[in-house]
Amino acid sequence: MKHSKLWLLWLTMIIISITTLSYLILEGEDKSVFTPGAMTGGHHQIGVACDACHTSSFTDEDEMQKACESCHGDQRQKPFDSHPQSKFTDPRNADRLEKINALYCVTCHVEHKPEITQKTGLTQPLDFCVHCHQDIAEDRPSHAGMGFETCASAGCHNYHNNRALYTDFLVKHMHEPETLDKQVVPAREFASVLEEIATYPHDRYPVSTLTAKDMDAPAGMSVEKELMHDWESTAHARSGVNCSACHLQGQEGEDKVWVDHPDHRSCQTCHDVEVTQFQQGKHGMRLKSGLSAMTPAQARLPMKEDAHAKQLNCNTCHQGHAYKLETAAVEACLGCHDDQHSLAYKDSPHYTLWEKEMQGDLPAGSGVSCASCHMPRTSIDVSDWLRRVVVQHNQNATLVPNEKMIRPVCMSCHGLPFAIDAMADTDLVQRNFKGKPSVHINSVDMAEQDNNRHLQETGGDAF
Ligand code: HEC
Ligand code: HEC
Ligand code: HEC
Ligand code: HEC
Ligand code: HEC
Ligand code: HEC
Ligand code: HEC
Ligand code: HEC
Ligand code: HEC
Ligand code: HEC
Repeated sequence: MKHSKLWLLWLTMIIISITTLSYLILEGEDKSVFTPGAMTGGHHQIGVACDACHTSSFTDEDEMQKACESCHGDQRQKPFDSHPQSKFTDPRNADRLEKINALYCVTCHVEHKPEITQKTGLTQPLDFCVHCHQDIAEDRPSHAGMGFETCASAGCHNYHNNRALYTDFLVKHMHEPETLDKQVVPAREFASVLEEIATYPHDRYPVSTLTAKDMDAPAGMSVEKELMHDWESTAHARSGVNCSACHLQGQEGEDKVWVDHPDHRSCQTCHDVEVTQFQQGKHGMRLKSGLSAMTPAQARLPMKEDAHAKQLNCNTCHQGHAYKLETAAVEACLGCHDDQHSLAYKDSPHYTLWEKEMQGDLPAGSGVSCASCHMPRTSIDVSDWLRRVVVQHNQNATLVPNEKMIRPVCMSCHGLPFAIDAMADTDLVQRNFKGKPSVHINSVDMAEQDNNRHLQETGGDAF
């Protein structure tokens, strides 16, 4: 008797273990037990979503290439990339691929190998430019004697994005002063182009000023005074966006139901650009891969202790009904971020400018908030016929390498040579740009020399 009971217990335990393990493998979120090594800083948040990169076949390199391009493709094109794939599918450059196959992302960016991964996610030695540019000193005498490990130093060149560093651009801006005459960032313009946005639900939510008596919440719902005040006194009620626009959610074709805590999907009807960009950066990338929202508890960067449980979504920086952009641009960020650079901001001259703008002592756009740098207002094509200024909701779009920030941000107010030096000074970045740059990068001087030589040789034709 005793023996058969033990045997039954044994069998039950085996069944439970097998079921749990199969669940973990097939359905569970945590597949990290099978990873061959830690993820890079760029992807650590989506490390458990193996199929984001390892699609149907584990070994097919074209399949993986497609996965990389599905998230990064729009940036790996001209003019944002100096070495797009199209450069190497050109037969004239085919011989360059013999030493290094630049057609595939994984040639330079493998995963799970922290021991060979550099800060930017590069897994090649730093001097790999030599494979294709060994003759550079002949074409450009200014480069004689330089080591190939220095090509990609701060303020010189990047492999991908050289939008602020190519010769013509350096020459064009070489004589600019430290601070330009006009020092403002572009104005936001969503409200003023609303008429032209064809996908906007004009029929259901025509632009008009709404008040408490217009609200379309379900009958009998008790609504707090403060909530009503927040809604009525901010942008949405002013522009005809009623309660149902955010609170009614449901699948296409089904009846929509009221949800108390709407997420980014409800904003997408009207703010598609913001929702898409948000999911391309570290704040929203987990949502894009079908995982739960990012929280400071899962971060590799230092975060405030009491913020650990906060979920990152649209209403993290924008409160539920009070849409105060000033709060979203500084105080919201400092509610979570706790690194040296972030904490140094309030001691910087840029913050003083921001305070003056908030007090009305400087014109709109003169202040520099966290968002001015990390969420710059950039003009982009939002459809085939419309170009408009949007607030970049991907905080990583201008972050690495940091020269990407020069054109859309610093050059609204500063000259190019000053901005290049400031970005190359890592201590200055840590101090959040308090003080003058203590390093000088020769790029602009070299471009000037090369340009003068070129002018002499060609008798007056600039580059
Ligand atoms: C962000 C993309 C990405 C994610 C997510 C990802 N991997 Fe990988 N993985 C790669 C890349 C890139 C390689 C290298 C491919 C190569 O060298 O051709 C790789 C290689 C591997 C290899 C082969 C190792 C080797 O040495 O050849 C295994 C096994 C692997 N991954 C397992 C996983 C598992 C399991 C997960 C989920 C827990 C995962 N990976 C998540 C990108 C990813
Ligand atoms: C599900 C979307 C997704 C996929 C698939 C994906 N990435 Fe990424 N990747 C991101 C996001 C989001 C970031 C972080 C933001 C940034 O740095 O642009 C990132 C960051 C990076 C970085 C920068 C790392 C750093 O530390 O700055 C590199 C390099 C990179 N990815 C290469 C690849 C390659 C190669 C593949 C294919 C094997 C790939 N990615 C697949 C979304 C993706
Ligand atoms: C021949 C080497 C090489 C290849 C191939 C390559 N990269 Fe890179 N990648 C680099 C280097 C070097 C950096 C460091 C920053 C720089 O120099 O632009 C980098 C940086 C990045 C970054 C972070 C910085 C940024 O500008 O966004 C991403 C994301 C990235 N690569 C994605 C990709 C993807 C996706 C592919 C394939 C379509 C790819 N890379 C192919 C060398 C390469
Ligand atoms: C697989 C070959 C290959 C590798 C590796 C390579 N390049 Fe290039 N690069 C080219 C080709 C091809 C061109 C265009 C023709 C030319 O100028 O030789 C080019 C052009 C350039 C240009 C001028 C054009 C522009 O649009 O800005 C710069 C700057 C540059 N590369 C820098 C680098 C740096 C820095 C590295 C290493 C981080 C590097 N390249 C690695 C092939 C390569
Ligand atoms: C622009 C979108 C938007 C509009 C318009 C809007 N809400 Fe909300 N509402 C939200 C979001 C987002 C939340 C969730 C906030 C959270 O989770 O912290 C929310 C939360 C709520 C809650 C739950 C509050 C709680 O503390 O649990 C109620 C009730 C509510 N809204 C009522 C309304 C009413 C009534 C209106 C119209 C007068 C309205 N909302 C208009 C976005 C909106
Ligand atoms: C029915 C369309 C619609 C929906 C749904 C919607 N919005 Fe808006 N939103 C607008 C319009 C129109 C404006 C411009 C109002 C203005 O500036 O007068 C706006 C402006 C904003 C602003 C700028 C506020 C300001 O002071 O200029 C923010 C932030 C914002 N929305 C966030 C959200 C979030 C977050 C959600 C989802 C919870 C959401 N919106 C849902 C239409 C919508
Ligand atoms: C990290 C904080 C943060 C998050 C998360 C965030 N926003 Fe914003 N958002 C801001 C800031 C800051 C501004 C104003 C920047 C400025 O004035 O230049 C802004 C501006 C906006 C605007 C006004 C844009 C314009 O051109 O007038 C809209 C609309 C908006 N956000 C919607 C969203 C939506 C939808 C989401 C979710 C996908 C979201 N935001 C998530 C910080 C955030
Ligand atoms: C709810 C907390 C929270 C808020 C609010 C918030 N962040 Fe973040 N932020 C994070 C987390 C978590 C990450 C991802 C860190 C990681 O993956 O290690 C992140 C990542 C970033 C990154 C990318 C860092 C990197 O190395 O890739 C930047 C830049 C950034 N945030 C800036 C901002 C700015 C600017 C604001 C305000 C407009 C803001 N954040 C608001 C939590 C927050
Ligand atoms: C004048 C522009 C500027 C301002 C203002 C600014 N930053 Fe940054 N921030 C940068 C640059 C540039 C980097 C990139 C540093 C690098 O990698 O070289 C950076 C890096 C970061 C990082 C990544 C740090 C890491 O270790 O990877 C975070 C997070 C961040 N900033 C948050 C903030 C927050 C929060 C604020 C406001 C309190 C803020 N920043 C204000 C320009 C700025
Ligand atoms: C909206 C305009 C504006 C933008 C955008 C801006 N700055 Fe500034 N910055 C200023 C002004 C004005 C000053 C001078 C402040 C003063 O003298 O009190 C300044 C001062 C500085 C200083 C010197 C601080 C000191 O203590 O002397 C540095 C360094 C700097 N900025 C770097 C940058 C960099 C790098 C960027 C881009 C990431 C940038 N700034 C973006 C307006 C701006």
